[in-house]
Amino acid sequence: MPTVGEEQKKPPILELGDVRLRPLRTSDAPALLAYLSDPRVIEHTSIPIATPESVAAAVARDMAAYREGSSFRLALASSDDRVIGICGFNTWSSVHRHAELAYELAPDYWGRGYMRAAVLALLRWGFSDLSLNRVHAFVMTTNARSIQLLKRCGFTREGTLRQYRIARGLPKDFHVFALLAQDFALNEVGASPNQSRGCVKTLEGKMSTHEDAL
Ligand SMILES: CC(C)(COP(=O)(O)OP(=O)(O)OC[C@H]1O[C@@H](n2cnc3c(N)ncnc32)[C@H](O)[C@@H]1OP(=O)(O)O)[C@@H](O)C(=O)NCCC(=O)NCCS
Repeated sequence: MPTVGEEQKKPPILELGDVRLRPLRTSDAPALLAYLSDPRVIEHTSIPIATPESVAAAVARDMAAYREGSSFRLALASSDDRVIGICGFNTWSSVHRHAELAYELAPDYWGRGYMRAAVLALLRWGFSDLSLNRVHAFVMTTNARSIQLLKRCGFTREGTLRQYRIARGLPKDFHVFALLAQDFALNEVGASPNQSRGCVKTLEGKMSTHEDAL
């Protein structure tokens, strides 16, 4: 079983055509605050009401966790390097080789396939470089867009956790979706030529290390 060394823990920058996944920076906070203040973004999540202070603290926390290798929440940035979303692993375990996927996108960019490209690229990196065996996601049962995205990326619904999280004061039910490494590999092998091309384009994205970006 390969061990995960420090070098392998560093998430790559993934170029995805119009957008790219890169490490978060302190200067990203205002753009994050702007889209997190849109009620559509948090409606079907347990994300708390955002303030400038809470977002700045969250960015600092995410950057520290990234440096320590305890979680990888990456910025999804547009061609002008403005943050339009987040996609990453909130938590991961090298012992159990699993991770929790999480993402959010500014509504102006919904319906373009950007998040699907980001999730597929992150999965490829997680299953290969991070040696993950399983990736799971917790999704509020009313979050149709997110459920659709997970299914399109090959995730299977495993069950429903009743009142799993408190969303702005109210207990809410969440589905657990998961994808195993073996199924991700199978999907890639079994993908149609068009689907394969999409993945290969995503997965052959230029990679560089965190340090390169700072
Ligand atoms: C969940 C969320 C990221 C999904 O965003 P999205 O843009 O719908 O997701 P995708 O990147 O998969 O885009 C898929 C859509 O783009 C369209 N699309 C356009 N071009 C595409 C392409 N080249 N490839 C794939 N899809 C494409 C698809 O038809 C699909 O539209 P549809 O949903 O109307 O069928 C977004 O709704 C969001 O940020 N929600 C708020 C936060 C949230 O709920 N986070 C998840 C918590 S669990």
